[in-house]
Amino acid sequence: MEASDRPREHSPEPDSGPADRGGVLPPTHSRMTLWVNDTVHVIELDHRTTLLDLLREHLALTGSKKGCDQGQCGACTVLVDGRRVNSCLLLAVAQEGCEVVTVEGLAEAAGADGDLHPLQRAFLDRDALQCGYCTPGQLCSAVGMLEEAKAGQPSVVTDTDRPTGAPVRLTVEEIRERLSGNLCRCGAYPHIVEAVQEVVVRDVAAREVIA
Ligand code: FES
Ligand code: FES
Repeated sequence: MEASDRPREHSPEPDSGPADRGGVLPPTHSRMTLWVNDTVHVIELDHRTTLLDLLREHLALTGSKKGCDQGQCGACTVLVDGRRVNSCLLLAVAQEGCEVVTVEGLAEAAGADGDLHPLQRAFLDRDALQCGYCTPGQLCSAVGMLEEAKAGQPSVVTDTDRPTGAPVRLTVEEIRERLSGNLCRCGAYPHIVEAVQEVVVRDVAAREVIA
């Protein structure tokens, strides 16, 4: 086939987007409201900002750590409306109106100035950390886990014969399974499990979970 016989390729002019086509560029920033550790923040944010970056870079709450930044290590775990989440995977603007608790907020929620959350105290007493990088995520995850068990949410190791919705007894196996999304490169797992067990047994509300 002669070159002149070939179908001609269509080579459109470069199009830089809706603006070139007479449209309006979509907004890249939004104003949002978020409660963090009982403080309200109204903030203008780039839509691509993750919740973790909002906490660390905009609000200077550097307790939540960035490990993998892709949902695999749990170092960035915080509580959003009481549920534990990987904050590196969530877009901040999608959390509009939500209530976030970080590791800094656990201590504040514990009561008087300087009080630690019982889990924070148990981690210290049981030597459940080495470098401490994973610890904020482990703590937030453990707080979420206690509530999940109390609410009867099963894990893969939960006895399937128990009544639906009944509180789940937090055995060592349950604790290990439920915290398996939080990696510790120092290998402090045995003491982390002991610390959580201590709180489960001591706490009156948690006693109901294991009754
Ligand atoms: S930093 Fe979010 S899961 Fe690793
Ligand atoms: S204490 Fe170092 S990563 Fe867990």
